[in-house]
Amino acid sequence: MKYKGIIFDLDGVICSTDHYHYLAWKALADRLGAYFDETINNRLRGVSRMASLDIVLERYDGQLSEEEKLAAAEEKNSTYRELLKQMSPADLAPEVKAALDWLRAQGLLLGIGSSSKNTKFILERIGLGDYFDKISDGTNITRSKPDPEVFLKAAAFLGLEPKDCLVVEDAKAGVEAALAAGMDAAAIGDAVSCGLATYNLTRFSDLIDCVKD
Ligand code: BG6
Ligand code: MG
Repeated sequence: MKYKGIIFDLDGVICSTDHYHYLAWKALADRLGAYFDETINNRLRGVSRMASLDIVLERYDGQLSEEEKLAAAEEKNSTYRELLKQMSPADLAPEVKAALDWLRAQGLLLGIGSSSKNTKFILERIGLGDYFDKISDGTNITRSKPDPEVFLKAAAFLGLEPKDCLVVEDAKAGVEAALAAGMDAAAIGDAVSCGLATYNLTRFSDLIDCVKD
């Protein structure tokens, strides 16, 4: 195998939470009277919660204090977590699970590198609560992607050198973070168009070809 470990972004790679993020941000934006749509929602991919709020507030006429911003982010998060309760193991695509199992069977370590503070909750909802060897997420980082921190921590948790890790990402900022960490990057979905990744995947199972010698 070309790598010793694979580090997966969660949202948009292992499962799709975009629509729940959209609904929760839309509820907040509607309450504030700020315009919000799917195009703005796409800009939030891979972006931390507070940085996402700043993007949502670009279309808000008023001014929120730091305290009000924290309350607004908390409001969005509680709507989001309510919506996440609808997720179940049926939201894990069989193709994704089969590819993960194949990678594990080759002896590769499997980790998560996500900006989300809801990572463990989401993994439990989709039946992968105990699946990954290590998790680096929004609860253990101080800097958001494209900063490499989340992936460098994931590699350290796995006990691996960055050069032995491949990152799988659906956001441009995530691909940049992986490369800045000294790791190869496989882009899927939205991230393909940035043209920066080591590999571009059409589907999740294409990953199998990327790791073979
Ligand atoms: C990323 C998502 O994985 O996590 C972003 O792509 C999100 O859209 C970020 O803002 C933070 O997530 P959370 O769950 O901590 O609000
Ligand atoms: Mg993502």
